[in-house]
Amino acid sequence: MKTVINSIATHLPSKVVTNDDLSDTLDTSHEWIFTRTGIERRHLVSDGEFASDLGIIAAKKAIEQADFDPAKLEAIIVSTTTADRHFPSCGARIQGEIGATKAFAFDVGAACAGFIYSLAIADSLIKGSNLNNILLVCCETLSRFVDWTDRSTCVLFGDGAGALLLQSSEDDHQGLIATKLYTDGSKEKHDSILAHSGPQNGHRGYTTMKGRSVFKYAIEYMDQSVSEILTENNMTFDDIDWIIPHQANRRILESLCKMKNFPTEKMIITTNEHANTSSASIPLAMGYGIENGKIKRGHTILLTALGAGLVWGSAILRY
Ligand code: COA
Repeated sequence: MKTVINSIATHLPSKVVTNDDLSDTLDTSHEWIFTRTGIERRHLVSDGEFASDLGIIAAKKAIEQADFDPAKLEAIIVSTTTADRHFPSCGARIQGEIGATKAFAFDVGAACAGFIYSLAIADSLIKGSNLNNILLVCCETLSRFVDWTDRSTCVLFGDGAGALLLQSSEDDHQGLIATKLYTDGSKEKHDSILAHSGPQNGHRGYTTMKGRSVFKYAIEYMDQSVSEILTENNMTFDDIDWIIPHQANRRILESLCKMKNFPTEKMIITTNEHANTSSASIPLAMGYGIENGKIKRGHTILLTALGAGLVWGSAILRY
């Protein structure tokens, strides 16, 4: 039994903010942001627009694309680190809005690695619990969780959502081949490198980050995880058509390609357009790669991500 992707859809909020726009109110510049991160612009939610709103639109598009009856969904897994509220979950709201009357729904909080964690959970439900139809939604609004006067963090993030209809299949030539997940909470304990403060004085709080430490760990751990997953599955980079990494920083992604001697042209990079949209970044990049005719059915794709925790992981799938 395999977990296959029937459809994938994305949604970005309509408000676009360029680096130049940010430099109007912040002591920063397009040059600084672009040379250090590859980011040119980001989509941001407007007042009253929340993570689940983005997720609902992406979910409806994915269902429509597959011409699928949402009442046949058995589970909805929502990856978000920026949920509208502590409860109810974004999953419950999305379930109620899309007519998925028979699906159970819940949120997964694995920060920027949330898509890979959720994919692993969906695969377990399909293989271990005989589920056949699962909707995986990643929806994120990091812009609501940063301090817009802190130039060292706010310029890095964007908002967006992606949704995938995952189904069981007997076809061995298609679908998820493997996932590999890791967590190391000790780094955060000893040296707070990437965290959200939690609510403070009536405000939802802010994201703090030691950029250089995160940069170093991102390269080291994504390198480790892609090597291990390939070796464990008797594969090499020659078997991979595309790498889709978490889109935090173009320089991190180029360093990874260089270390692995993998051509950058075979990596999907959307950092320039979307900035860091946390767990939504891989589905957004995958959607972009498919829409632009790069990723085709039958292609083998390697996914990798690292996020706050630290949590990280990789997956291999045949689209
Ligand atoms: N505009 C202009 N200057 C800025 C700035 C901004 N937006 N943000 C920081 N600076 C300044 C700093 O204040 C510092 O000034 P100083 O030398 O006078 O103190 C200088 O730029 C260098 O800051 P530093 O943080 O050392 O820059 P850097 O080269 O490490 O780049 C990041 C910063 C955040 C772009 C980089 O470290 C990074 O991308 N890290 C990984 C982040 C990531 O992936 N996070 C998400 C993981 S899920």
